Amino acid sequence: MSGVLSARTAVNPLRRLTIDQLRQRTSLKWREYPDDVLPLWVAEMDVPLAEPVARAITDAVARGDTGYPAGTAYPQALAEFARRRWAWDGLVVEHTALVPDVMHGVVEALRLVTEPGDAVVVNCPVYPPFYESVAHADRRIVEAPLGEDLRIDLGTLEDAFRRARPGGRPAAYLLCSPHNPTGVVHSAAELTAVAALAERHGVRVIADEIHAPVVAGGARFVPYLSVPGAENGLSVMSASKGWNLAGLRGGLLVAGPAAAGDLARVPFGVSVSTSHLGVIAHTAAFRDGGEWLDALLTGLDDNRRLLAALLAEHLPAIRYQPGQATYLAWLDCRALGLGDDPATVFLERGRVALNSGLAFGSGGRGHVRLNLATAPELITEAVRRMTSAVG
Ligand SMILES: Cc1ncc(COP(=O)(O)O)c(C=O)c1O
Repeated sequence: MSGVLSARTAVNPLRRLTIDQLRQRTSLKWREYPDDVLPLWVAEMDVPLAEPVARAITDAVARGDTGYPAGTAYPQALAEFARRRWAWDGLVVEHTALVPDVMHGVVEALRLVTEPGDAVVVNCPVYPPFYESVAHADRRIVEAPLGEDLRIDLGTLEDAFRRARPGGRPAAYLLCSPHNPTGVVHSAAELTAVAALAERHGVRVIADEIHAPVVAGGARFVPYLSVPGAENGLSVMSASKGWNLAGLRGGLLVAGPAAAGDLARVPFGVSVSTSHLGVIAHTAAFRDGGEWLDALLTGLDDNRRLLAALLAEHLPAIRYQPGQATYLAWLDCRALGLGDDPATVFLERGRVALNSGLAFGSGGRGHVRLNLATAPELITEAVRRMTSAVG
C-alpha cells in the first residue's frame, strides 16, 4: 500500500527539466540538430537520472570502483523485478550472460543460433538498427510485415518462416517485444502462437525486450520466455529504456531452459566488455528504481493522451493509435500528402526533429516516429511546429 501511495506522490520526472537545461546536454538527441530545432527523435528521455541510480554510480566513482564487471547482482535484480512486475519467476540467474548493450546482445544471440548467410525474420516496420545489425553480422533479413492493426500477423509470419529456411538452414526470428515503433504489447496468446509456429518451423526466437518496463497503465507485459513452448528462446533485456541509461551501457542475454547450453558459448570477452558502471546503474534501477518508474509511467500516460488530443484538434489527418508501451508514437501521416518522408518536411518547415519512417523498413513510408518522453509543454510545441509545417 505504501508503495502505491508513494508512487502517486512521486514527482513526474518528465516535468523536472527546462528546455534551457536540456539544451546543455551533450548527448545525441540534443546535439544532432541546431538550437532552433526541437528534437523529439532518438530514444533518449528528457528526465533527470533516477535518484537510486545516481547514488549507486556516484558511490562507485567515490570508491574508484571502475574496473571490470563481476558477480550476479544485475540478473538477480532483474529476476526480482520480473517477479514483482510481471509475476514471472522463470528468470534463472545462471541462465544469463552480461552483454555490452542490447544490440550487441542481439548480435551475440544471432551468432549462437545461426550461421553467416542465414535468415533473420523481423516484423516491419521495426527499430532500424535491426536491419543494420543483422547485415553487419552477415545474416539476411526476411520481412514479415505487421498487419493493418499493427499486430503480428501469424499467417504472414508463417510464410516468412517458410522462406527463411531454404534447404533446412538455421533461421532466427528477432521479435521486438514490446514493439518499437508502434508500442504494441504482444499478448500471452499471441506469444504462445508465435512459440508454436517457431517450434513447428524450427526457427529460433530472440526477443528484444528492452522496452518491457515501459508499459501504459492497465497494460501487462508478458515475457516471451514465460509462455509455453518458448523453452529454447533467448531474450535480451536491459534497464536502458526504462531509466534512460544509454550512456551507462549494459544488457543481459537471458536463455530459456533449453537454450542454456547455447548461452554457455558466449565468449567471456563479450561479457567482460560490459561497462561495470553500467552494470551498477542497471542493477540499481531494477532493484530500487520502481517508484521513479511508476511516476514516469504516469507521466507517459498523460503524454499519450495529450498527443492524441492535440493531433485530433490540429492535425486530424494524422492517424495515431496510442501504444500500450514504449515512449514512442508512430504517426501515419500519409493523408497529409507530404510524400514518403514527412519527417523532412516537419524538420525543414517546422523545425521539429522526428524519426523518418523510411528507416523502419517496409510499412514506414509516409510515417514518422515521435518521442513522447519529454515535458508536456514540448509536446504541445512540437504539434504547433508540425501544424505550421503543414499549413
Ligand atoms: C527495440 C530496441 N532495441 C535496442 C535498442 C538499443 O539498445 P542498446 O542501446 O542497449 O543497444 C533500442 C533503443 O532505442 C530499441 O528501441
